[in-house]
Amino acid sequence: MERKRKVCLFNTVVSSSAKMSKSGGSGGATTKDNAVVSSVINPSTGMPYSQSYYEILEKRKTLPVWQQKDEFLKALKANQCIILVGETGSGKTTQIPQFVLESVNAETPDGKRMMIACMQPRRVAAMSVSRRVAEEMDVRIGEEVGYTIRFEDCSSASKTLLKYLTDGMLLREAMADPLLERYKVIILDEAHERTLATDVLFGLLKKVLRNRPDLKLVVMSATLEAEKFQGYFSGAHCMKVPGRLHTVEILYSEEPEKNYVEATI
Ligand SMILES: Nc1ncnc2c1ncn2[C@@H]1O[C@H](COP(=O)(O)OP(=O)(O)OP(=O)(O)O)[C@@H](O)[C@H]1O
Ligand SMILES: [Mg+2]
Repeated sequence: MERKRKVCLFNTVVSSSAKMSKSGGSGGATTKDNAVVSSVINPSTGMPYSQSYYEILEKRKTLPVWQQKDEFLKALKANQCIILVGETGSGKTTQIPQFVLESVNAETPDGKRMMIACMQPRRVAAMSVSRRVAEEMDVRIGEEVGYTIRFEDCSSASKTLLKYLTDGMLLREAMADPLLERYKVIILDEAHERTLATDVLFGLLKKVLRNRPDLKLVVMSATLEAEKFQGYFSGAHCMKVPGRLHTVEILYSEEPEKNYVEATI
């Protein structure tokens, strides 16, 4: 006799309430209207945005950091240092550097090139995240968006505006350029992963911030003890980004299960 199985111990259902407007970031184009889409030009490349740009944009807009985009940009304008604590998957690594780039571009319309560095403690993350961001921005990796890891520099001295790089590489750049003058904003991601290089960088950046009032620093993490960092970078503004909420349905099994994971599926 077949044993009756009540399957799900818990079901997660992503809320469909995050229905997106189909408008593009900068032009109000719709995915349905190809004529309008093609008329919207990507400022980075001077080419029309591709269809996949709009598809990814819709997904990006559902990420929790988008809810606080304006708040973040206001805080970035008003403060030299921001501590951003956001739950995992909220969009810190992929979205925040793009928000920063947008704001820096808007502030320097005269075309003065200012770069943004996003430090990643792991080289694989620097590579894969920069590829994803290049895809999201509809540009080629190594051009407007690039990465630098040990033994591999996938960036362009004349084109790259947003660079993902490892802590070691940022430290190396700081040796040659102690005030990190090519950068307008430095983002330290995964700040809780305290490596020797990141600790030295924290000390170094504290000094650089004093000497370069125009430089901004964003410290990000999912599990950061924000107060400690706030105390270290005295006067830093702290921002919290909540995670995504999922509807959870609880069902009980009528009989004990041998393998609860299997039964759940
Ligand atoms: N390579 C990728 N391909 C497809 N989607 C991706 C990719 N990288 C990230 N994403 C999407 O972007 C979302 C945000 O990712 P992101 O890495 O920015 O989050 P995060 O806040 O930095 O998380 P964490 O605290 O784990 O580092 C992910 O939940 C995922 O949906
Ligand atoms: Mg991240």
